[in-house]
Amino acid sequence: MMKALVTSGPTYESIDPVRFIGNRSSGKQGHALAAALAEVGFEVTLVSGPVHLPDPKVVNIVQVESAEDMLAASENALPVDVAVFAAAVGDWRVAEPANQKLKKDGSREMTLTLTENPDILHTISHHAIRPKLVIGFAAETENVMANARAKLERKGCDWIIANQVGGGLAFDAEENEVTLITAEYEQIWPKQSKTEIAKKLAEAIRKQLS
Ligand code: CTP
Repeated sequence: MMKALVTSGPTYESIDPVRFIGNRSSGKQGHALAAALAEVGFEVTLVSGPVHLPDPKVVNIVQVESAEDMLAASENALPVDVAVFAAAVGDWRVAEPANQKLKKDGSREMTLTLTENPDILHTISHHAIRPKLVIGFAAETENVMANARAKLERKGCDWIIANQVGGGLAFDAEENEVTLITAEYEQIWPKQSKTEIAKKLAEAIRKQLS
């Protein structure tokens, strides 16, 4: 049985015991993809940030919060035949999260020092036991195609799924409109449900690996 790894959802980076830095990712696209890959016969490990979704029917679900934990869980899932990085990983984490709840100090100002998170897609793309097929997403607000292709090269993945964010698409939406970009071709998948996109992508992956 071929194996797949999917990351999904947002990451939460702790500020103190009660606060975090997160983002608006719902996990819908990543979870739909995990389910679709299982449907076409993959043994799927889903590494998920905090989401409000039912668990899809896959073999392994690993729940994480931070980007560092998501990276560790992803490396732990290797070797796999294909890895798809649908999670919206926070680019930054708080350099020194507080052990106690932060209190107002009367200064009316607050500075958090942030430090860069590891890039999970880049790390797995350059891993000693790299999956045969590594797929990233590129959420862009402008110059979608150019930015996405640059991202494909920068991250060292094989395919990238580019999408325009905003206007009721992508983040926390039911529908998505994407372009599949590979080294050889670009294919536009017009606006449709995230479930439909997931099925198409799972089928394309199955074909590529068979
Ligand atoms: N990604 C990742 N780890 C990170 C950041 C991003 O694995 N620390 C993955 C995402 O899951 C996605 C791809 O990289 O598959 C692109 O994510 P995106 O947020 O669009 O790109 P960034 O690397 O954040 O680039 P930029 O902020 O310049 O757009």
